[in-house]
Amino acid sequence: MASAGCPLSYLLLLVAVWGRNRLAAAQPAATTLRFNSEGTFKILQIADMHYGNGAKTSCRDLEAKVLRTCSDRNTTLFVQRLLAAEKPDLVVLTGDNIDFDASNATRSMDEAFQPVIDAKIPWAAILGNHDHESSLPREDVMKYLTKMDYSLSQVLNPSMESLLGQDASQTPIQVNGVGNYYLQVFGPAGSDTGNTSLLNLYFLDTGEYSKFSRVGGYDWIRASQVLWYQLLAAKLLGSAPEASTPTPALAYFHIPIPEYESVLKDESKVLGDKHEAVLSPLINSGFFTALLQAGDVRGTFAGHDHTNDYCGELMGIHLCYGGGVGYHAYGKVGWPRRARVVGASLRTNKAIAKTTQEIVTWKRLDDSKMSRIDPQILYNANARRWTFGMKSAGAVMSPLLLILLTLVITACSSCLFNTLYAKYRRKVGIDEYSRVTEDIPLESNYPIDSDNSDDD
Ligand SMILES: *[C@@H]1O[C@H](CO)[C@@H](O)[C@H](O)[C@H]1NC(C)=O
Ligand SMILES: *[C@@H]1O[C@H](CO)[C@@H](O)[C@H](O)[C@H]1NC(C)=O
Ligand SMILES: *[C@@H]1O[C@H](CO)[C@@H](O)[C@H](O)[C@H]1NC(C)=O
Repeated sequence: MASAGCPLSYLLLLVAVWGRNRLAAAQPAATTLRFNSEGTFKILQIADMHYGNGAKTSCRDLEAKVLRTCSDRNTTLFVQRLLAAEKPDLVVLTGDNIDFDASNATRSMDEAFQPVIDAKIPWAAILGNHDHESSLPREDVMKYLTKMDYSLSQVLNPSMESLLGQDASQTPIQVNGVGNYYLQVFGPAGSDTGNTSLLNLYFLDTGEYSKFSRVGGYDWIRASQVLWYQLLAAKLLGSAPEASTPTPALAYFHIPIPEYESVLKDESKVLGDKHEAVLSPLINSGFFTALLQAGDVRGTFAGHDHTNDYCGELMGIHLCYGGGVGYHAYGKVGWPRRARVVGASLRTNKAIAKTTQEIVTWKRLDDSKMSRIDPQILYNANARRWTFGMKSAGAVMSPLLLILLTLVITACSSCLFNTLYAKYRRKVGIDEYSRVTEDIPLESNYPIDSDNSDDD
């Protein structure tokens, strides 16, 4: 019997090895994120898909006549349209990717992420407060996401030990949560900055619900994660091209930090809509303070509150919502599902620079035109120089510049009026949907494809 079992187990081993190799070959090569040769890099944020069980899963908050024919398939369709319209270099899925009523978590993840994988675009995901509520525990959901095709998601990177330079047994601090990691976006292939990160991306796990009996509500970015960020930002600053200037960075997480409420105090610095309360944790764990002190993060991107899509500046940092993508999730009738895009550019008027020059954002709506709305500049490397081009203090404004300015102001008085009027109309909280803008402001160097076509 033993002699018959032996060749059989060899055969099984061979099949197993062949199977593994075949799987390995199907995996995409480790992806290095880079600015393209034009000097741009584009990120699409997909927030709150709440994917359930595909065609069987119903939709919410739509006009009655379209509700009947709607399912998770429409969420997939919208993601496909977004990818076709924007052709992003990276997709970031900011949690509540699958819903609590998914009957098989891995199948729902497979289906929900399929359009991104089909488009062969690298992606990074984090978890919301619902992803673990179907058939898999939180850790397993995150691990599964790290193993899917084209995924750059990680459970933890770097580890606290590697940041503190100690061996594991000497580091009592565990980084809380699953899905705390970072990615770097390098300069164009073959260029001087081909080995230099020009944009850093942080991903953090904001957990689910408070684990402390004296605190209700949602969980928060814990002290261990704030420390992890501080150590990582300091390490990245050490490797920045100019060690005193942090490389511009963006941070993605699911639950908004309490400053998403504070930013509303100055409505002139906010663009977009607020249709519901900011559902932050009930305590402030100081992540924003850490961001201010490190100075690298120029924008943060949350999901969670599906019908808030605003982006506002607080003390030099933009706090932005993605707006909701999922049709199975709650939304608002007459307010199309939407997604936020971020574009970073190395371009100056003449050349491609060796540092990020500008970061801009806009949103895409799932309407018939895939409308692009609310363009906004999040960061400009030369912002200070813009003050009438007078960089050196005490320089006298040249008469020519004065004449030019007067001419521009005269010629532009009507457009100035329109701008002011538009600003008034776009105040946060105005319940009116009338803010379609097709173009990024002229002062932006970020190139925008002229086609705004419906790829449906
Ligand atoms: C959902 O998809 C179906 C089939 O493609 C389509 O007929 C319907 O209009 C879509 N509904 C919404 C709300 O987009
Ligand atoms: C869940 O779906 C996966 C496919 O992603 C399948 O392989 C697995 O058998 C399913 N599990 C159950 C319990 O049905
Ligand atoms: C980047 O690293 C590679 C491999 O070490 C090296 O061959 C190349 O010259 C480096 N490029 C630059 C611009 O430093």
